[in-house]
Amino acid sequence: MKVVVCGKGGSGKTTVAVLLSKAFSKLGYRAYLLDADESNRLLYKMLGASKAPKPLANLFGGKKGVFSAMRGAGGEKKELFSSEFEIDKLPSSYVEEAGGVKLLQVGKILEPFEGCACPFGVLSQSFLKNLRLSREEVLVVDTEAGVEHFGRGLDGVADAILVVVDPSMDAIALAEEIKGFAEEMGVGVFGALINKAPSPEVEELLEEELRKRDIPVWGKLPLDQELFKAALSGNPLPADRHRELFESLVAKLLAQPL
Ligand SMILES: Nc1ncnc2c1ncn2[C@@H]1O[C@H](COP(=O)(O)OP(=O)(O)O)[C@@H](O)[C@H]1O
Ligand SMILES: [Mg+2]
Repeated sequence: MKVVVCGKGGSGKTTVAVLLSKAFSKLGYRAYLLDADESNRLLYKMLGASKAPKPLANLFGGKKGVFSAMRGAGGEKKELFSSEFEIDKLPSSYVEEAGGVKLLQVGKILEPFEGCACPFGVLSQSFLKNLRLSREEVLVVDTEAGVEHFGRGLDGVADAILVVVDPSMDAIALAEEIKGFAEEMGVGVFGALINKAPSPEVEELLEEELRKRDIPVWGKLPLDQELFKAALSGNPLPADRHRELFESLVAKLLAQPL
């Protein structure tokens, strides 16, 4: 199963992607986490890995190499990965393991004015499309903020989309927009996780707004200072504190008809 985590900037996508991949691993799945956000730097610390894996873009000689590899001589679109692609065949430097989760990353924007992150988007899309997973394997994808990756069809090759909704009208509007994209792309499995509601009343309000828009709520992760502090100090996220919530999220995802 391939699960794409998306939502507004700062809503908690990376936090949720890390905790969800850990929950899959705890439940006996072989869990992979793909960092497909070109701007975020510290996911590996939140997972508890000692360093970030080599960017997959390096397989093609970096961002410029990806740019040339994604087009054929006649300018036609080319797949970057073959359809038999398996993570275990990658050189080990491209995978960092922590707590049972294998982390991969697409690539980062390193220089100011490095330009459009598009080649990274094409790379993510080709990776997702061509990666073969067995029933015991799951890939969780942490995306950049907003809907840019939908333009590139990143989610057309995913099995499920989880949108993280923090207490703001922006997050709700974006969730609605993403729901529309999911329907267009034929990703039938779509749900929201409410995050960072400061009180049950606010949680209730958010749930009501989502209900009005026919967006199923798959869980609620409360505002938790421990999550915030761990991220701020560069420590692994305390996964056990929210184990039940994330295990129930896994159960909901697995119960969906794919
Ligand atoms: N449930 C939560 N409780 C407290 N802080 C949270 C929670 N979820 C996320 N955060 C904090 O909010 C900030 C943004 O979270 P992050 O996962 O990086 O969001 P995104 O990936 O969507 O930009 C971080 O400082 C993170 O520690
Ligand atoms: Mg993030």
